[in-house]
Amino acid sequence: MKNILVCLVCLFIAGDSMAQINDLSGCVTKPIVAAHRGASFTAPENTIASVMLAWQQGAPMVECDIHLTKDNRVIVMHDPNTRRTSGVFLNIADTNSAELRKLDVGSWKDPNRYKNEKMPFLEELIDTIPPGRMLLIEVKCGDKVMPYLQKIIEQSGKETQLAIISFNLDVVAASKKMMPKIPAYYLIGTEIDKETNKPKGHSLDLTKIAREKGLDGLDLHYAGVTENFAKQVLASNLELYTWTVDDPNEAIRLKGLGITGITTNKPDLMLEVLK
Ligand code: G3P
Ligand code: CA
Repeated sequence: MKNILVCLVCLFIAGDSMAQINDLSGCVTKPIVAAHRGASFTAPENTIASVMLAWQQGAPMVECDIHLTKDNRVIVMHDPNTRRTSGVFLNIADTNSAELRKLDVGSWKDPNRYKNEKMPFLEELIDTIPPGRMLLIEVKCGDKVMPYLQKIIEQSGKETQLAIISFNLDVVAASKKMMPKIPAYYLIGTEIDKETNKPKGHSLDLTKIAREKGLDGLDLHYAGVTENFAKQVLASNLELYTWTVDDPNEAIRLKGLGITGITTNKPDLMLEVLK
């Protein structure tokens, strides 16, 4: 009971800077749990349903993916087309948002519970963020989206609850220049060694790149995060997030390395494992 009260107090006072994210991590879990595409193990990814479920489960952070539509609306979807989650093939960049919003992107997961879930506009997802929680916005398209994204962020009134991630270094660097107060993290996958077929450790050059571009940190595939790598990144005063971790043993290993955050499809399980 005492822990719950402490968490509630911390959520209430958590506010408006990256330092406050750290406050939040101190009272909820360390590492911070970020719900990947919402609570996407249970609910259809990147929908209001999956994001609301993640908030209800207590996730301090949610991750989502964005694309730019033909009519320049920022819409939430992982893939560049709609085939996988709606059964209808439309390229997002070539289609107006009104057409995209007619699609049902929930039934593939569970037609009884999620029929007629729509692709959300980013503004709608931002509106759901409770006080003291954060949304990680992954830019999946190129930097053409940036002026539209900037406008949405500035008009949201929730600038302090948003952060940008991307595999595109130009995008995160541009984001940091356009919106210096919005945290930005560079995403990288893990390379597999062709001879051993095992994951390779991440290169320490990433630390240099992140610092040169003025980024707040890195968001890396977990398998390449070795003890030495994590130590060096954190010693450089960069934050270190990882994705996508659904295995409790791996989460416990990463926690031992002192990393900043873990992205997971199962926020309920990870919050339990890491508390
Ligand atoms: O949080 C980062 C992770 O989402 C990157 O991979 O393909 O799931 O967007 P992906
Ligand atoms: Ca993503």
